[in-house]
Amino acid sequence: MSLILQSDLLPGVRQLMFNRPEKLNALSTPMMAEFDAALDACAADPSVRVVVLRGAGGKAFVAGADIAEYQGDKRAAFIAYQMNSRRVFDKLESLPKPVICVVDGFALGGGFEIALCCDILILSDTAQLGLPEGRLGLCPGGGGTQRLVRAIGKYAASDLMLAGWRMTADRAHALGIAAEVVGLDALDDAILKRARACLKTAPLAQAEMKRLMREGVDAPSETGKSFEQEVLFRLYSSDDGQEGINAFLEKRDPEFKGK
Ligand code: COA
Repeated sequence: MSLILQSDLLPGVRQLMFNRPEKLNALSTPMMAEFDAALDACAADPSVRVVVLRGAGGKAFVAGADIAEYQGDKRAAFIAYQMNSRRVFDKLESLPKPVICVVDGFALGGGFEIALCCDILILSDTAQLGLPEGRLGLCPGGGGTQRLVRAIGKYAASDLMLAGWRMTADRAHALGIAAEVVGLDALDDAILKRARACLKTAPLAQAEMKRLMREGVDAPSETGKSFEQEVLFRLYSSDDGQEGINAFLEKRDPEFKGK
């Protein structure tokens, strides 16, 4: 049985579903390997325009790393697992396509770290998010401390990590992490609505805007602004840039080709 179920929700929209519901989709080493390969496949396939991440079973997105693998002070294996998580999460963050993360239950530890690498979060009102590693005597290892503080600031991040809280969907929305919070029965429609909207935005522009935000966040503002204009001037002369302008003036839908 595959640990990552792949399906197309719409033409161009690939869903990757973490599939280990009996363990709340905890990220085992084999699951991480399948996820890694699935990300490569999404990146390499030009017909995939949008990626949706979701957890199977309705109780969890991902409840974190597989704690059973940690038992027994297997230091070398633990370090290898953490290095690999960091690499895979970085790969997810830099995927040059929009990634929508759907959380309809627990997104804890590595599960929340994955969500923090995505672009758009859609939560059900049952979602609970957190980085509870401190309660295991550990800390996040896949970039959680760094991405969370950049996403919500020091005080909200400290509250979550140091107290080990799980935040509600409404709190995540109030902090600006969640694009939308919906009831469970409205979740599928909300995913399709966002995915369709992402399909209408030019793919090269999406890839470049993701890179500008990712690289710009740690760069001096002047450097980021120069980088932004370089990108814009390139996009302006691209086929898609010209097509988008022409289509607007001709009052028709653009046909973007990713060039
Ligand atoms: N690693 C390994 N197994 C996990 C897991 C994890 N991160 N999270 C849940 N599971 C397993 C449980 O051990 C249990 O397995 P079992 O039925 O064989 O005993 C099963 O998933 C269901 O979890 P359970 O704890 O019984 O569900 P719950 O509804 O009572 O509690 C949580 C849900 C999410 C609050 C609880 O499972 C939890 O705290 N998980 C760990 C979260 C965490 O610390 N993540 C960071 C890891 S670094």
